[in-house]
Amino acid sequence: MYDGYELRNGVKNPCIGFGTYKAADGKSAEVIKTALDAGYRYFDTASFYGTEEYLAEAIQESKVKREDLFLASKAWKTEMGYEKVRQAFEESLKRLQTDYLDLYLIHWPLPEDGYEDWEKLDLETWRGLEELYEEGRVRAIGVSNFLPYHLENLMKHSKIKPMVNQIEFHPGYTQELTVQYCKERDILVQAWSPIGRSALLDHPVLLKLSEKYHVSVAQICIRYALQRGIVPLPKSSAYERMKQNQDVFDFEISEEDMYRIGTIPQSGWSRLHPDGCSERTV
Ligand code: A2P
Repeated sequence: MYDGYELRNGVKNPCIGFGTYKAADGKSAEVIKTALDAGYRYFDTASFYGTEEYLAEAIQESKVKREDLFLASKAWKTEMGYEKVRQAFEESLKRLQTDYLDLYLIHWPLPEDGYEDWEKLDLETWRGLEELYEEGRVRAIGVSNFLPYHLENLMKHSKIKPMVNQIEFHPGYTQELTVQYCKERDILVQAWSPIGRSALLDHPVLLKLSEKYHVSVAQICIRYALQRGIVPLPKSSAYERMKQNQDVFDFEISEEDMYRIGTIPQSGWSRLHPDGCSERTV
């Protein structure tokens, strides 16, 4: 499983990726170049992040071959709807200087200010993704920040079911209901902010485990996602921490400690904004 997860269509989703949101604001190209040097080949970006061009620049300079990379991007809230999402996809490809994506996601289930007919809008957007997939422009399609009731709409009314759901997931916010819903339907869960945006680094339970396993708290968080069968997409601006965040295969968190992590009180950002309707968005 740690050599990647097979999606429903047989495409392999690598088990750890590099998150490029904010990518150290203003120094994106440099940070992404460093991540390539540190061995990352799976990059998660989005039109909203503003990092697609930097990613393309870093890839070009690195001379890493396109087929050795796994590139994922997302359609933003303002790019929803059949026509708009097709256009958005083309623009992402152009910025990324590639002719296909490995994965393309709907970033949030609802547009910025909510939308009374969001079910229809999601289905129209999804139809755009289905077509891109059928045309061979993208190897896999999915969603992000979808809760079970958003997913139900697509599961019931779409031809191709979402293969991935990328959500906020870390020991401080495990979204059990959404994770369980996805697992039961063969939808791969990916974790944004798997370290909880560093808010968990001094959590007493995690500090104790970090001492016990002789690893950092960040490594405990990343390993926790892996052992849950969830794909962590950590971010970092420093080479050593980028390396460290991939160095999570020499230890195993015991079942008892997995349960212990599971009792940490829950306080994720998206708990307060479950549909993403707020000016603060990722
Ligand atoms: P830095 O860029 O200085 O490494 P998340 O991916 O959960 O959103 O967390 C990102 C935050 O976690 C960043 O602030 C990053 O800071 C920090 N971070 C990433 N990896 C590590 C690590 N191994 N140890 C400590 N902090 C880390």
